[in-house]
Amino acid sequence: MPIVSTKEMFQKAYDGGYAIGAFNVNNMEIVQGITEAAAEVNSPLILQVSAGARKYAKHVYLLKLVEAAVEDTGLPIALHLDHGADFEICKSCIDGGFTSVMIDASSKSFEDNIALTKKVVEYAHDHGVVVEAELGTLAGVEDEVKVSAEDSSYTRPDDVEEFVSRTGCDSLAIAIGTSHGAYKFKPGTKPQLRFDILEEVSKRLPGFPIVLHGASSVIPKYVDIINANGGALVDAIGVPEDMLRKAASMAVCKINIDSDLRLAMTAGIRQHFNEHPEHFDPRQYLTVGRDYIRELVKAKIVNVLGSDGKA
Ligand code: G3H
Ligand code: 13P
Ligand code: ZN
Repeated sequence: MPIVSTKEMFQKAYDGGYAIGAFNVNNMEIVQGITEAAAEVNSPLILQVSAGARKYAKHVYLLKLVEAAVEDTGLPIALHLDHGADFEICKSCIDGGFTSVMIDASSKSFEDNIALTKKVVEYAHDHGVVVEAELGTLAGVEDEVKVSAEDSSYTRPDDVEEFVSRTGCDSLAIAIGTSHGAYKFKPGTKPQLRFDILEEVSKRLPGFPIVLHGASSVIPKYVDIINANGGALVDAIGVPEDMLRKAASMAVCKINIDSDLRLAMTAGIRQHFNEHPEHFDPRQYLTVGRDYIRELVKAKIVNVLGSDGKA
């Protein structure tokens, strides 16, 4: 089976009230940990690659790793560009074997966002590739660009119909209070998401797949292991899993997870070095990192996304 599109995945997820996990990949152990977990529970997957991941590992290595995972597991896996900043990176990924790209022009004006998204959609659709766009701005850190909470803005439901019909995009990322990174909510406050916005958006776009970025939960188990082994993660707070489950049962078809993978892998490696300071074979510590990623992703699929058994 080749790398697949998200089109059919999203249709089934929308109708079935579950979501597909979109996991960021940067190296072989991350790809293997995620895809082995999905294979254990027979789940479809989106593996996504950021500009930073392409810079770190090179496009061709990531493409071949994902092709290898498809061959190894036989699962339906889509390969997606995460947060494409301009037409050129989207074109490069479309020409280079990705089945889906995100054009993130959310920091531009409404009209400029539409113009750039439309240009990417036209090129992508001509090449059989689907496009995720974004309206509204998330707070947090991506590719070392920091957006403060004050500069973030919720998606305006009144904008979405015009945006989708004028751009022709295939899915839409919206801002309802999640943010990138491990520090999503103020310590001492109750994490809250604007489900009213999600509800309004889905009323205006019936049957249309919505995407949730910044959806890591910052699972205490991995934070505790990191801190017990020399780490210093203070006040890291993620999106509660019950909120993600609720979003998945609504119009959200794609849930983006990166920070949780980073935390799980770091927890495994830190713990390993603490227990075995004499080790220096990367296979020893990367095995533990990969095992923790496998454990994390399996739990996400079964307890949060609900995509198990849907491959
Ligand atoms: O949304 C951002 C993702 O977590 C990717 O992060 O740009 O550091 O690879 P990155
Ligand atoms: P997290 O930082 O919450 O994992 O979000 C990842 C993401 O949105 C990637 O696009
Ligand atoms: Zn994101």
